[in-house]
Amino acid sequence: MQEALTEPFVKLLDLGTGTGCILVSCLASMPMAHGTGTDIHPATLAVAEDNARTHSLANRARFLLSDWFTAVEGRFDLIVSNPPYIAEGEMAALSPEVLHEPRRALTPGGDGLDAYRAIARGAPARLMPGGRLIVEIGPSQGAAVAALFAAQGLTGIRILPDLDGRDRVVAARKPAGDTGCGTA
Ligand SMILES: C[S@@+](CC[C@H](N)C(=O)[O-])C[C@H]1O[C@@H](n2cnc3c(N)ncnc32)[C@H](O)[C@@H]1O
Repeated sequence: MQEALTEPFVKLLDLGTGTGCILVSCLASMPMAHGTGTDIHPATLAVAEDNARTHSLANRARFLLSDWFTAVEGRFDLIVSNPPYIAEGEMAALSPEVLHEPRRALTPGGDGLDAYRAIARGAPARLMPGGRLIVEIGPSQGAAVAALFAAQGLTGIRILPDLDGRDRVVAARKPAGDTGCGTA
């Protein structure tokens, strides 16, 4: 999630934080920032909390049990997420190393885009004007995720490749003059 660090931020939200690795590494690189990590799985949040303590970030990180945005309050200048994105039909083809992950971390079911739909719907209300939304994606999902973000009024949408040239991230921004809550 290198893209997250290309601009300063002070209030970070990591949706589906898992072990907290993205939240912890972003906060470690931005000493003035505070962050909230959410997950739907309580045991996962305990691991994330532990991770934040290990990296001396407990005073800048908090964790919340939440189905995407449902328990989230306030606004953030950066929202990041690496949600489950594998389509139901692609699960059978996954290698055994990947399949040891819990199912909820891998797939939202269906076409693999449901997490992005929920994130796109909820983001405008939780982003400050000018705030950024950055998500990791499966390599074939760039155009679909970009369209979901555009439909919610987000702008400056970019699909970013990894070092192998495969699309891996979609970044977008809430317009600076937009103080509203989107179309959710
Ligand atoms: C692919 S893992 C990513 C974990 C971590 N962010 C990372 O990058 O390693 C997806 C995470 O999303 C969480 N998740 C799945 N459905 C969710 C939901 N409805 N609301 C919040 N988190 C959810 C899973 O429990 C899992 O921790």
